[in-house]
Amino acid sequence: MSTPRWDRLLMNATLATFAGDAPCGLIERGAIAIHRGRIAWVGRVDALPAAPDTLSAIVDSLDGALVTPGLVDCHTHLVFAGDRAHEFDLRLNGASYEDIARAGGGIISSVTATRGASEEQLYAQSLPRALALLADGVTTLEIKSGYGLNLDGERRMLRVARRLGRELGMTVRTSFLGLHALPPEYKDRRDDYVTLVCDEILPTLAAEKLVDAVDAFCESIGFSHAETRRLFERAKQLGLPVKLHAEQLSDLHGAALVAEYGGLSADHLEHLSESGIVAMAAAGTVAVLLPGAFYALRETKLPPVELLRKHAVAMAIATDCNPGTSPLLSLRLAAGMGCTLFRLTPEEALRGVTVNAARALGLADRGTLAVDQRADLVVWNARQPAELCYWIGGNLVRQVWLGGEPISTD
Ligand code: NIG
Ligand code: FE
Repeated sequence: MSTPRWDRLLMNATLATFAGDAPCGLIERGAIAIHRGRIAWVGRVDALPAAPDTLSAIVDSLDGALVTPGLVDCHTHLVFAGDRAHEFDLRLNGASYEDIARAGGGIISSVTATRGASEEQLYAQSLPRALALLADGVTTLEIKSGYGLNLDGERRMLRVARRLGRELGMTVRTSFLGLHALPPEYKDRRDDYVTLVCDEILPTLAAEKLVDAVDAFCESIGFSHAETRRLFERAKQLGLPVKLHAEQLSDLHGAALVAEYGGLSADHLEHLSESGIVAMAAAGTVAVLLPGAFYALRETKLPPVELLRKHAVAMAIATDCNPGTSPLLSLRLAAGMGCTLFRLTPEEALRGVTVNAARALGLADRGTLAVDQRADLVVWNARQPAELCYWIGGNLVRQVWLGGEPISTD
């Protein structure tokens, strides 16, 4: 008997491929073959080229279970020390997010905790969050810096992010977010801080290969359009892609700015105008919607989903997992919130946590079930895609596959 051509073959699956023309790229009674960590074949069981056990060393039947690409969480601040549960309490007693930030809390309270933590402590505190996302079906994860705000603190965060990827086998993409908040020691010296970030911290960490992309918080309580542009100029010189926290609380025209630099994504976007959308469409910049922050801050202004559709801007959804505005540890729940709060269809929300989220990270080798894609898959205790957005809470994951291997998520 000849050697089987594939390592594994999963039979009798309901495949939400997010490729092809069918809704969700759905293939009923599907089969998917994996070889050397990649997807080698996808189609209907009855189209397989030969008897399954002649094709693959291992053949499993999934009895109709839903299979999707591994989920991609394209916007998180998952590495931080401490928590901000007390600010949650303050907000419920009437303070706003901006009030707390101006009083020295908010991002700065996480900066104090993160600066005070050793690399080991930061890793130990961040690990359960990464494991929670993995157990919920996330196989690729973006993690930002931004709670160090000095060379040592930002480096520590990014090193912890890289280590999480190595130790868990997930793909971690890092974003440098030095322009997240003005550190207290630079109060009244804004320009000096922006110069430090652009001329020293970013080039140093980029040379250490800790930075995959560059981000900023362009907002009245963050950094201005002009300051963000200075950072993007430096990113461009260093050959690093950019993305931006834009139009979350007001319209500073950040989306048009990030589009001007050919940015990967503009994120949040509740206050985005049509001219920003037109710029994003022309640049192919993905709109990353963050319903966790919208929910936690009890925002009422919705992102302009209808206009994003009209201009065919790809939409992604992410957890924004962070201690202040989105302590959210389920990307599947974020997708469901994208439907209920932002009126996305389940298909849009699910494309938003797979193929479009991969695009928001500049990764073309994942996010769909198609030949040659990385074999990062999730087998769900569900039979149709909409269920992933419909169930609120609970754990629907039956099995997560990373690079062609099933892993234990217990
Ligand atoms: O994406 N908006 C800025 N950054 C985070 C909040 C971070 C924090 O409050 O710690 C966000 O919402
Ligand atoms: Fe964020």
